[in-house]
Amino acid sequence: MVESNQMELFVAWAKRRGVIWPSSEIYGGLSNSYDYGPIGVEMKNRLKAHWWQTMVHHRDDIVGLDSPIILNPKVWEASGHTENFTDPLVEDLVTHKRYRQDQLTDPTKSPDGNPVSEPKNFNLMFKTFIGPVEDDQSVVFLRGETCQGIFINFKNILDTSRQKIPFGVAQIGKSFRNEITPGNLTFRTREFEQMEMEFFVTESEASEWFDYWVASRLQWYVDLGIDPKNLRLFKHPKKALAHYSQGTTDVEYNFPWGWGELEGIANRGDYDLTQHQKFSGKDMTVFDEATKEKFIPWVIEPAGGVDRALLAVLLDAWQNYEKGRKDQGEVETLLAIDKRLAAFDAAVLPLVKKDALVEMAKELVTKLRQEGKNIYYDESGSIGRRYRRQDEIGTPICYTIDFESLEGNTEGTVTVRDRDTMEQKRVKV
Ligand code: GAP
Repeated sequence: MVESNQMELFVAWAKRRGVIWPSSEIYGGLSNSYDYGPIGVEMKNRLKAHWWQTMVHHRDDIVGLDSPIILNPKVWEASGHTENFTDPLVEDLVTHKRYRQDQLTDPTKSPDGNPVSEPKNFNLMFKTFIGPVEDDQSVVFLRGETCQGIFINFKNILDTSRQKIPFGVAQIGKSFRNEITPGNLTFRTREFEQMEMEFFVTESEASEWFDYWVASRLQWYVDLGIDPKNLRLFKHPKKALAHYSQGTTDVEYNFPWGWGELEGIANRGDYDLTQHQKFSGKDMTVFDEATKEKFIPWVIEPAGGVDRALLAVLLDAWQNYEKGRKDQGEVETLLAIDKRLAAFDAAVLPLVKKDALVEMAKELVTKLRQEGKNIYYDESGSIGRRYRRQDEIGTPICYTIDFESLEGNTEGTVTVRDRDTMEQKRVKV
């Protein structure tokens, strides 16, 4: 785990190795926006694929959806976002810097110790226009959460998927919030990605399903190799609940700057479907065979962030240790990331750049790629340095083709080097 005094080294590593770097950099950046580089994008895609696999593919009771970022603006009126999706904004009366009042230690003072203004409710929805005319009729919003696309499709999914209560609908996609104080790398940004699942249940079963999803989502992070000591559950006090929630518990990670939310599991009651029924005039009820009555289902929602989950996984897997002579400040990095999330499944390395070795190495690369593996091929530089480069990005194994691979009773063998133990074994291709 990264200590707060090592954060600078972590950020430098993330940039140097093509994981995460500031966006729009050649133009001086854009406040708290980040790009995922060639290594970061592979890890992010794998994290999303893993979530989809556990939440959708491995279950009979959850289906997927992909709905647009821009929806009919009535959606946000119904959901309460136009009115309630606000943060209390205050201004330092001396420096004129702006803060979220609920994040200040003393709500009447800025971090510089100056008095602050009365709070104003600041709406977080990003506004834009659809079509060529910029007037009130063409105002639309970039979604502030992915789940509203699920609620408005509730009936379509019931009609087409043959699911019955209890069942869930999952979606991964970008969301946008005009955050007052973004920060801490990708922890809080204005454009981010969510992984949300809405699980529709009866009112009487809601609390049981809530407990189930809290436990199951916490375990998901443990299964990804995050040290359980760095994970905890946080139950929101009643007065701090979001406008739609009957109860929320967060999965939190012990970030270098303190505990922070990775995912919120909320009991949304029948709030959303009731609102959409009211605003759209469309029936959102289902028929209960047992009671012979129609009812609006309740919703249990595990809502996670792709960027935060990846940041926690990286911080937890990143190990930086001194090597060689301390006074020369030599350090080595090992990213002990879960093998399923590593950017590459393996690296293939001919010991030296000799035709016969290169040829055999490339044959192995082709075979592995045909099996669907993502392979890093690297033929230049010292073998030690090439191993270290793979350790730094967390490639679980390296296959090395050497002269023994070509002749004698070791012909057709390669060495396999394990990232974590650094053990090397000779095996048949
Ligand atoms: N539909 C419910 C919902 O959106 P949320 O707690 O506001 O709940 C869910 O968001 C998750 O989305 C958070 O736990 C976090 O991982 C991620 N998230 C929210 N705002 C974010 C931001 N500004 N930057 C990065 N991730 C964010």
